[in-house]
Order: sequence, then structure tokens, then C-alpha cells
Amino acid sequence: MPEKILTNEDLSRIVDTSDEWITTRTGIKERRVAAKGEDTSDMATEAALKALEQAKISAKEINLILVATATPDMLFPATACFVQKKIGATNAACLDISAACAGFLFGIEIAQQFITSHTHDTVLVIGADKLTSITNWTDRNTCVLFGDGAGAAILGHRGSAHGVISTHIGSDGQFSDILFMPGGGSRCPITRDNVDLNLATIHMTGKEVYKQAVTAMVSASQKVLADAGLTADDIACVIPHQANLRIIEGIADRLQIPLERFYVNLDKYGNTSAAAVAIALDEANRSGRIKHGDYVLLVVFGGGLTWASTIVEW
Ligand code: ACO
Repeated sequence: MPEKILTNEDLSRIVDTSDEWITTRTGIKERRVAAKGEDTSDMATEAALKALEQAKISAKEINLILVATATPDMLFPATACFVQKKIGATNAACLDISAACAGFLFGIEIAQQFITSHTHDTVLVIGADKLTSITNWTDRNTCVLFGDGAGAAILGHRGSAHGVISTHIGSDGQFSDILFMPGGGSRCPITRDNVDLNLATIHMTGKEVYKQAVTAMVSASQKVLADAGLTADDIACVIPHQANLRIIEGIADRLQIPLERFYVNLDKYGNTSAAAVAIALDEANRSGRIKHGDYVLLVVFGGGLTWASTIVEW
């Protein structure tokens, strides 16, 4: 996580909002903001180095790097290539994944496919985003929601049965216009006029996103539970996308899993997009909240629309 903290109080001095509004509508109290010159690949690199340290392997053993991000350092080359250079993973192939906030679990699914087909056996999956670089700081509907950060995981063959046991990914392009950034791509390249129109920032229809998020994450969770032959009662910890506490409460209610079994850190970080579940998974692991043998359900949702779910036997 970047060091700089931006509190709700700080935001109330930038736009017409309040700590009370943000807390009751979202659960967010503060978020982290990358420093000037701290790029998505810098946060991704720090997360990757911590994952390598924990996995006790060297960067040279990695043969595939996947970076899920909606805010790459540049449109090309892939941010994964910058990470490769910074960590010295000279034996890796590199690519970015564009699945917005759902990207980290799309990465887990892709890694799993490469691993089970025996083409690449040690895969570094990173979720990293610097959403504050595409935030419209005059739009109170969106600027209070987002923050910056990165998280990483290394996947490989395991001798035991533990690991990723069930995955699901899905998309619905019909809703591509409820959460998007219209400018900055080839359809609407950056020009002076477009910058003035704030086109290279996040545009969101909040209420519709909210509705779709609950529906998609509930059905994605039910799908991986059924595929794994498990019920909601078997899940020790749910790590959901960290967008809004009310969305998480809605999912808990519909899945009939007590809220206490959900890992929530959005109060500290806001919505960090593709990084959110990766950061939460790491915190839950390092704090002992998830233990060897636990079934952990990860479920995410993002622009596209995209959604994904994974069950891991920890
Ligand atoms: N401070 C104060 N008032 C605000 C703010 C703010 N920051 N933002 C909006 N308001 C006002 C609105 O202008 C509106 O005022 P009005 O009634 O006078 O028009 C009022 O508050 C209510 O606005 P709503 O949009 O109805 O508020 P809602 O309860 O729906 O909450 C929110 C808005 C938090 C955006 C909610 O819809 C939400 O969380 N949606 C999902 C967003 C999301 O998860 N996005 C990302 C998902 S995917 C990804 O991570 C990229």
C-alpha cells in the first residue's frame, strides 16, 4: 500500500461531502494515494517481492507474470513487463489482464489453466491499480470511493490436495456503459478538449452498478460452491471485492453466511479495484484469520461487466 492516507475529512475539503455520508453509504473511512512517481508497476513490484519472499523462491523461477490492472503504467508495453524488469524475472512471459476490479481472480483462473495444462508451472499473479490517477476529483459521486494498492500471489503445483479447487469467470458486455473510462483509448484519444471534459476519468452509474454487483457476486459464489460440492456452511472465510460495505452485507444476507465470516478492509483502503481481494487475502493470511485446511471463497465484480469467484482450500 502507498504510505499517503487520504481520510474522509480530507475529502470533505475537496468536494461537497462528509465523513458521515461516506461512512454510512459505503463503510469507507480512508484510502491510500500513490505518491508522485509511484507507478502501478512500483506497487505491483513491492507486492511481488513480498510474495516471492513468502513463497521462498527466486524471481528466476517464475515463468509467467500476469498483472491485472485498469491503470497500467502505459497502454503498452504491458505493466507485467515493467514488473519483470524490476524483479529480474528473466525467465517469465508477461501479459496484462483487463477485467477491471475482477482482474485478480481472472488471473487466478488463467494461471490455473496454464498450470494444469503443464505449459507454465510457476505463475505470479498480481492485482494492482492506481485509480486515483483516473479519478475525477470534482465528482463527489465517484472520488470518495477509490484508492491505490497492489497484491500478489504465486501459484504452482502442490503435492497435496490443497489449493484452488473451484473457479468461475463471467462477463456481460451489455452493461459496459455503467462503469467505464471513455477517454484515453483509441476511440477517444487524449486531446486538450477531452481532458477538459474529464473523459479520461471513471464514469459510473452507481445505483445500477450496486444492483448488478450483488446479483453477480451471489450467483458466482453459488456456482463455485456447487462445483466444489460445498455449501455456504463449509466456508470459513469469504473475501469479497472491497467496494462498498452495503454490497457485502447484501451478499452475506443472500448467501446466508454471517457477516463475521467476511473479511473486510475497505474502511482502510476504499476500493482498490484489481488489488482489493489480493490485498485482503494477504492480510487474512498473515493475520492468521485463515488457517491451513480452511475453505476460502473469493468473489469479485467489476466494470465490463465482469465477475469471478474462486474457492481455495488453504
Ligand atoms: N457526499 C455527499 N452526497 C453525495 C455523495 C457524496 N460523496 N455522492 C453522492 N451524493 C448524493 C447524491 O448527489 C444524491 O443526492 P440527491 O438525492 O440530492 O440527488 C444522494 O447523495 C444519494 O445518491 P445515491 O447515488 O442515491 O446514493 P447511493 O445510496 O446509491 O450510494 C454509491 C451511492 C455509494 C455510489 C452506491 O450506489 C454504490 O456503492 N454503488 C456501487 C459503486 C461501486 O461499487 N463501484 C465500483 C464497483 S466495480 C469497481 O470496483 C470498479
